[in-house]
Amino acid sequence: MSNATHLACRECSREFPLDPINVCDFCFGPLEVQYDQGAIRSRVTRERIEAGPRSIWRYKDLLPVDDDYIVDLNVGFTPLLRADNLARKLGMRELWIKNDTCNPSWSFKDRVVAVASSRARQLGFETLACASTGNLANAVSAHAARAGMRAVVFIPHDLEAGKVLGSAIYHPTIVAVNGSYDDVNRLCSELADNRHWAFVNINVRPYYAEGSRTLAFEVAEQLGWRAPRQCVAPMASGSLFTKIHKGFEELQTYGLIDHAEIRMIGAQAAGCSPIATAWQNNTTNIRPVKPDTIAKSLAIGNPADGYYALKTMAATGGGAASVSDAEVVEGIQLLAQTEGVFAETAGGVTIAGLRQAIQRGTIDPNESTVAFITGGGLKTADAVEPHVTRPIPVEGTLQSFEHAFAAAGHN
Ligand SMILES: Cc1ncc(COP(=O)(O)O)c(C=O)c1O
Ligand SMILES: [Zn+2]
Repeated sequence: MSNATHLACRECSREFPLDPINVCDFCFGPLEVQYDQGAIRSRVTRERIEAGPRSIWRYKDLLPVDDDYIVDLNVGFTPLLRADNLARKLGMRELWIKNDTCNPSWSFKDRVVAVASSRARQLGFETLACASTGNLANAVSAHAARAGMRAVVFIPHDLEAGKVLGSAIYHPTIVAVNGSYDDVNRLCSELADNRHWAFVNINVRPYYAEGSRTLAFEVAEQLGWRAPRQCVAPMASGSLFTKIHKGFEELQTYGLIDHAEIRMIGAQAAGCSPIATAWQNNTTNIRPVKPDTIAKSLAIGNPADGYYALKTMAATGGGAASVSDAEVVEGIQLLAQTEGVFAETAGGVTIAGLRQAIQRGTIDPNESTVAFITGGGLKTADAVEPHVTRPIPVEGTLQSFEHAFAAAGHN
């Protein structure tokens, strides 16, 4: 049995059973999973976690899923790389890259879907669905295949070829909506009311959101059971960002790490930066925008958790960065060329956001910092293709090689 006990409204604290519901019917606040903290405290130790599988399921005691229903694609426990080359370029002392490109469908969305699909199975659903900017649809399609469930994924019509293929290969039903993600989300919210489908980020969103906490659990464990002083993460709906911080806080509550102050910095692309813009304008009133950026995975104009992301920034002494598309491409190249990690555009946003936050003094270059790289680069190949090294064509002879090599300016 999991240690999850009920759902509670973030605004009015009203309690609800662990059902497929995501909003409080009293005040419309979002619902969040609550746990039996006493049971967790008495059972969970560092040793128990370390003896678990090398996946997010080593933190099963902290997740709202019962053993019998786990959909297991071996998600998580991705590398935490010490990034000394990149740190040197940025003038930093201790920088780490959490490399979530290494997940089964190459993004952190496998974490949230692993939890949501397992809970959906437990709740008796046979169909997994989602409103997606691309990566979520990939993770839902992969997990549905693994679980023997039906998948119906909804995406905006103008996604990158790599993101569409990244779902299609698992043979889901893909619905391409003629509109932006926000149109997709509106349609799916209506559908969630009249179809018996588990929309992972709508009616089962409370369970989905819990999955992102595993990023904090892993980072803390990989750092030798301590939290970093600063984190930089990309924001679309803002859910990931808030849950990373919540994950570190919970580890402190359960005595698994010492007390730590963690500054949270969220990054968005300037072409879709409703949260960063509200932060810069010193307001919690988020104005929806019409996205126009190459960072399509982050192109949510009306972010569901934006308000809570702003509260997390304020509470932690953090902030927000907003970067141009050119900076996103530079960020992808910089990470690849200094550390050998090929990120998608969201990772470019993180690295460019990190650089901006250092320049503006939001991040202290002398404090330990983790940058979250949440998706793999081959899915957004179009964004970087015009900017990368071209092969030198040669015949298979020494003479041809020497000639062409020199002609290309090499020696
Ligand atoms: C690669 C990647 N990183 C980050 C995010 C941001 O997620 P959230 O909506 O939880 O802010 C997304 C969302 O789709 C994503 O695909
Ligand atoms: Zn409420």
